[in-house]
Amino acid sequence: MQKTYHIVTYGCQMNVHESEKIAGILRQNGYTQACETVEEADIVVFNTCCIRENAENHAMGNIGALKKVKRARPSMLIAVGGCMTQQDGAAQRLRKKFPFVDIVFGTHNLEDLGGMLARKSAQKKALVEVTQEKAIEEADISYRTSYPNAWVNIMYGCNNFCSYCIVPYVRGRERSRDPQAVIGEVHSLLEKGYREITLLGQNVNSYAEDRADGVTFPQLLRRICAGQGKFRLRFMTSNPKDFGEELVEAIAELPQVCKLVHLPVQAGSDRILKLMNRKYTAREYLSKVERLKKRIPGCEVTTDIMVGFPTETEEDFLQTLSLVRQADFSAAFTFVYSRRQGTKAAEMEGQIPEAVQKERIMRLVELVNEQTRAKSQTYLGKTVEILCEDHDKKRGLYLGRDEYGRMGYFPSEVNRVGEFVRMKVTDASGISLYGTAEAAGAKESE
Ligand code: 5AD
Ligand code: SF4
Repeated sequence: MQKTYHIVTYGCQMNVHESEKIAGILRQNGYTQACETVEEADIVVFNTCCIRENAENHAMGNIGALKKVKRARPSMLIAVGGCMTQQDGAAQRLRKKFPFVDIVFGTHNLEDLGGMLARKSAQKKALVEVTQEKAIEEADISYRTSYPNAWVNIMYGCNNFCSYCIVPYVRGRERSRDPQAVIGEVHSLLEKGYREITLLGQNVNSYAEDRADGVTFPQLLRRICAGQGKFRLRFMTSNPKDFGEELVEAIAELPQVCKLVHLPVQAGSDRILKLMNRKYTAREYLSKVERLKKRIPGCEVTTDIMVGFPTETEEDFLQTLSLVRQADFSAAFTFVYSRRQGTKAAEMEGQIPEAVQKERIMRLVELVNEQTRAKSQTYLGKTVEILCEDHDKKRGLYLGRDEYGRMGYFPSEVNRVGEFVRMKVTDASGISLYGTAEAAGAKESE
């Protein structure tokens, strides 16, 4: 009988990729079959997030719901890892609230999950392993299920301490991977047929500042692309304060680098940006976006925006709306500020009532949706290049993204997953695009 595993992932792409590492470790340790539901799994791993309160509540609810399953089938193992466990005192709180959990492990302990499984089998009581920073594991241990897309970490942690953010506390200080290891991993993925690589780090612009190799992030991009054929290279996330000319040039010159930059702005009021410790003004941000679009015609920018930060007034909020209009984002992730214990902002006076936050986020979302829909409309009748990544059984359509991250759907008699497909857009009424695909191997037409 094959032993089965089920991984529940919350949060960002970093976590999605780390769940691939967890899957890799589980598969090396006798759990060879992924299963759809938690109820049947021999091991369930929760890879948690704590960036906002609702992410935590979500995980807590789902872990709690396993109590009955565990009682009915005590041989099932339950492990909880990820950012939530790394907060001060969180592991103890988890143990108390969910005594049926078998293993609690921190973000710095993930790579030792195999060892933990062995140690747990030798003891009855729960195993808790949450330590502070550790050395980087350079080997690619991931079991990837996202073909033709692949994530590659280039660095871990964050040194920025934006005043609202828990990440520097749960992920530790910036630690960059060896450039040779990163380049080797990307090239080996390309050899295996992966077609889109996303480099991951909390602040990719400060890549390798903690190392002596003297390789900057733009240089890393150049080395990754050197001598390579067609593929897509993306990266996230860039902090606007460190987003410089050298990077703009690399994006402009390297055909493989997607002309789409995710540049979180967070707010449009200088007073709020200062309180957030973001180290740029709204004007500086906008001028970076402008320079980028001027140097790279057609370049698109996406962003993260937060509303309801402590002391945010209606006037501050209107400045955010105004910045959104000026920057002309192609998409934006919008968030309500969430008070995170241990951060500077959690202690600030002037926390904003929930009703005000809700009202503001609704206005912001409305504006963002309006802009995104208007951008979609401009695609109508055009031909876009989709990297086909999956087949949607329900809709009976193949799907994939264009260079700018728009999802496109098209019918096909043959499997096109892993191919670059030229798609003529026939419907662009929502955020997604629909169209018809040119046949495989069709001649490129302008
Ligand atoms: N509350 C709300 N949103 C947050 N983010 C980070 N911390 C918080 C918080 N405490 C958002 C930021 C960041 C994105 C990943 O999550 O916008 O860019
Ligand atoms: Fe958090 Fe700021 Fe670091 Fe991003 S740059 S992870 S928002 S502290």
